[in-house]
Amino acid sequence: MKTVLITGTTSGIGKAFAEKFADEGYDLILVARNEQKLKQQQAALQETYHVAVKYIVQDLTQESAAGLIMADIDKWKVTIDVLVNNAGFNECGFFVDTRLDRELEMINMHIRFVTELTKRILVHMKENGYGRILNVGSTGSFIPSPTDAVYSATKAYIMSFSNALCGEFGKAGIKVTTLCPGATETEFAAKANIQNTLLFRIAVMKPEKVVGIAYRKMMKGRRLVIPGIYNKLLVIFSKVMPISLTNRITILMMK
Ligand SMILES: NC(=O)c1ccc[n+]([C@@H]2O[C@H](COP(=O)([O-])OP(=O)(O)OC[C@H]3O[C@@H](n4cnc5c(N)ncnc54)[C@H](OP(=O)(O)O)[C@@H]3O)[C@@H](O)[C@H]2O)c1
Repeated sequence: MKTVLITGTTSGIGKAFAEKFADEGYDLILVARNEQKLKQQQAALQETYHVAVKYIVQDLTQESAAGLIMADIDKWKVTIDVLVNNAGFNECGFFVDTRLDRELEMINMHIRFVTELTKRILVHMKENGYGRILNVGSTGSFIPSPTDAVYSATKAYIMSFSNALCGEFGKAGIKVTTLCPGATETEFAAKANIQNTLLFRIAVMKPEKVVGIAYRKMMKGRRLVIPGIYNKLLVIFSKVMPISLTNRITILMMK
């Protein structure tokens, strides 16, 4: 029985990933902050899919987060076959107006934590000769986004970091995938107060759809997954358009 560790499973894309992996017969380690939701999720997944589910209550913005998670994994003597670095959040607005403390927490979680946990788990995957890592980026990984400057920069880091790891592992049994969703119907937009923006009113995907595509492609060892034709076109256009134009379009989309 293989084991997957997924961060941010109490809602949205992470929740859909937990259900997909359980349905595929994986044992699970779930990570998030809300213990009550994790406990309910553990019971529901165990009952529905008859897999073993453990959870870790952890705020991933804390510097000690990756170390504490590894301490539990070592204590349980579990081999992690698949890692899904999914947890994330947004802080939107013009950079002079946004909350710096939230942005620094975001950098801690999207960059510091993802880097540290990936390194610590990769060491074991290398010893075992097998591993799948999926890091959740965003279409913002490709598009520097006015009114979402720090978020899109952290997501660009995630994609650059993951692409580089692909180069290091090449044909080994370890594959690293970046998932770059666009607007997806989760709690993410409401938490960042951007649920009424143009971005979240057109071509919004269901998390189960995003995860179905991502799961299939990560298991094939694909480097990059951009779910949905609209998101693919957005990324292609962003590559050929001058930044002055993407800047104007992004501001419009975020209104
Ligand atoms: N939804 C979109 O439109 C969209 C688009 C592109 C990319 N993404 C990316 O997709 C990923 C998942 O987002 P989502 O849309 O599923 O959002 P979501 O519904 O808000 O879920 C976020 C998950 O992350 C967890 N989380 C948040 N802050 C945390 C912290 N400090 N420590 C530990 N866990 C934390 C939350 O659990 P707790 O609150 O229980 O901790 C929750 O389970 C994120 O990386 C996001 O950037 C989303």
